[in-house]
Amino acid sequence: MTHFPDVSTPLWTVHREDTVASTNEIAGRLPAWHAVTALRQTQGRGRYRRHWVSDEGGLWVSAVLPTPGSPLLWSVLPLAAGWALRNCITQLGVEGLHLRWPNDLLLGSAKLAGILVERFNPECAVVGIGINVSNNPGSEDTSLSGAVTRLVDLLSPLPHQDFILASLLAHLAQAQEMLAAGRISALLPELNAVWHIKRVHITLPGERFIEGEFLGVDAQGNLLVKDRENRQHTLSPMDVTKLREA
Ligand code: BTN
Repeated sequence: MTHFPDVSTPLWTVHREDTVASTNEIAGRLPAWHAVTALRQTQGRGRYRRHWVSDEGGLWVSAVLPTPGSPLLWSVLPLAAGWALRNCITQLGVEGLHLRWPNDLLLGSAKLAGILVERFNPECAVVGIGINVSNNPGSEDTSLSGAVTRLVDLLSPLPHQDFILASLLAHLAQAQEMLAAGRISALLPELNAVWHIKRVHITLPGERFIEGEFLGVDAQGNLLVKDRENRQHTLSPMDVTKLREA
């Protein structure tokens, strides 16, 4: 029998909703250490302004984290959030998870979860996380069938959503603590060991492209890429318009 350890999150105030447009939007009006979760989202937001299918059965949560200190430090928050998410789901018992830059959680090439970090004010960041648990994203968008995976397909017994939520919030708090203490280097080796993409095609501003090997990220959150001529490029995430597998 799988044993799920008790996870308590005295730090967090959790707001539970039924149907909302987007939990990120609500969390954007809340202070740090508040989190919003909803059964469904009608206008779930994905990265690159994509729609995020958020039907009932998934875990849709937005957590507000304080971001004190240097903006440079906090530019790696999206990566640290991916690290926290992967640790959480691995601890639940799913093995072999990879991250696709910057923070998609994959099993093989199927997406299990995604993260959208938004800043609504300078003091905090909203970390919006969508995890496919027992929802059916393919029934709303058939192009998602086969492209996504869900916890219910991977874990038996499936932990209660409240347990997953509590564990996720605890892992996010741990990531926040590491960043606030300037200990990015402590999570970099782990992060760089779990990237999914190896060969990438990157689009940069001004219709420039780089194709090469994805080597990982550095302590500023820059992407490290080696091109075909063996030249290493350090690319700011702000400059990467698009990244796809080559
Ligand atoms: C992505 O992979 O494109 C990011 C998806 C992020 C989805 C989550 S669900 C909870 C939160 N609220 C939103 O509107 N988006 C995020």
